[in-house]
Amino acid sequence: MSVFELSPADLLAHLRDGKLRAGVVGLGRMGLPIACTLAEAGFSVSGIDVNEELVSMVNLGVGFEDEAGLNDEVKKWVSSGKLRAHTGFEVLKECDVVFIVVPTKAVNRRADYSTLYSACKDIGSYLKRGMLTVLCSTVGPLVTERIVKGVLEERSGLRAEVDFGLAYSPIRATSGRVLRDLRSYPRIVAGLSVRSLEAASTIIGQTTSGGVVKVSSVRVAEVAKLAENVYRDVNIALANEIALICEKLGVDYNEVAHAANTQPFCHLHVPGLGVGGHCIPHNPYFLVDYAISEDLKPSLIVTARNVNDAMPRHTLKLIIDGLNECGKDIRGSHIAILGAAFKPDSADPRYSPVKGLFEDLRMMGAKVKVYDPLVPLKALREQGYSARGSLEEAVRRANCIVVAVPHVALKKELEDKLERVLEAVKAPRLIVDCWRMLDPDAVRRLGFKYRAVGRGL
Ligand SMILES: NC(=O)c1ccc[n+]([C@@H]2O[C@H](COP(=O)([O-])OP(=O)(O)OC[C@H]3O[C@@H](n4cnc5c(N)ncnc54)[C@H](O)[C@@H]3O)[C@@H](O)[C@H]2O)c1
Repeated sequence: MSVFELSPADLLAHLRDGKLRAGVVGLGRMGLPIACTLAEAGFSVSGIDVNEELVSMVNLGVGFEDEAGLNDEVKKWVSSGKLRAHTGFEVLKECDVVFIVVPTKAVNRRADYSTLYSACKDIGSYLKRGMLTVLCSTVGPLVTERIVKGVLEERSGLRAEVDFGLAYSPIRATSGRVLRDLRSYPRIVAGLSVRSLEAASTIIGQTTSGGVVKVSSVRVAEVAKLAENVYRDVNIALANEIALICEKLGVDYNEVAHAANTQPFCHLHVPGLGVGGHCIPHNPYFLVDYAISEDLKPSLIVTARNVNDAMPRHTLKLIIDGLNECGKDIRGSHIAILGAAFKPDSADPRYSPVKGLFEDLRMMGAKVKVYDPLVPLKALREQGYSARGSLEEAVRRANCIVVAVPHVALKKELEDKLERVLEAVKAPRLIVDCWRMLDPDAVRRLGFKYRAVGRGL
């Protein structure tokens, strides 16, 4: 069956009749949830991943523990026979559509597409006439047309948009709530030809209630995805820069932003310890690489990255200054870091700016304990943290408490227990509040020195 040549109505009819099989290459944080949404849309799904342990886990009906709803979904689709994971690519021979969801990242601030390149080589070996391929990994401009199309054509001996279709549809989802985001956000879709665009839009439209945003070329889709990430990064950098000015000036960024944001065109973001995650710290470089190759100087994007990357060091400086004021050196100080996830209300500690701060503190001779009410102890220890299972254990004997992630649960816990918990803290006593979560007067009344990102003394 030539899927990319089917009309949307025929495609939907085949899907309803259970005649279509989708391959999902890369069953990671994004790929596995995508496989579930495709199963729900009516596909039989063959997942492919080079990680044998992950493949066995999926075939046992298990997903990622910290991903809301995923375990239940994987169990449901595996037990109903609609989802099966494989380590080999041969199974693609039976597929009508292939979704590519392998990692892409920046290494030393340069885009690294080596994994995508290698996956496309393997996919190309099993590509067959009539197949539709849909790239979902985040990529820089022209990567779909040059690397993905080029490698698939070379390996298969087939021609894109003549023998097989190629579409690009970037993922908009945040770890922790990927299934919800995939099913509710609008999805951007582009095709190398109108046929691929229509086929991919029809399929993806079955997986989200948010609808499909069809764009005129894969270049538009590539830049649109990166522009979303860069928009966040640049705005966070702006907030961070203004926050540093507020600190010097002795005013509170929150008050400044609240006042400024009453102007309808002003949307100041939230400054803090830095920017983490799988996407924002990496993806801007995909755009930068392309810009530089065209002799452009994307200085704003690069500066934003540098500003945000510098925030853990700025926090370190606040800690050192605060401890000095307490007459204490960082070497030998006991420090409790509260929060380790890469963003608020997430249970995922990977790619967190907290890690850099933790390592710097350790390198300077501090004794650092980490507590996060949402991240399981095992996951914290896998990140190399000296982790504690309760707030009380983490702050015991601490000279300094760093509020590093503004989880709602952490805020509540601190509000409920602040006085009791702080009594256990050893003198000299310092709190560094990276997100301006605490009331400085209340903290000072309890005998603490107080430092905050974006809040002057
Ligand atoms: N994680 C996010 O929050 C997020 C959000 C939006 C977009 N994205 C993008 O989605 C893509 C996938 O990211 P992810 O978070 O799922 O990554 P991930 O690291 O969680 O998963 C990738 C999976 O691909 C597998 N893999 C690696 N090489 C392979 C190969 N050659 N063949 C088959 N499988 C292979 C890995 O074993 C892993 O299981 C990336 O381009 C990323 O930028 C991620």
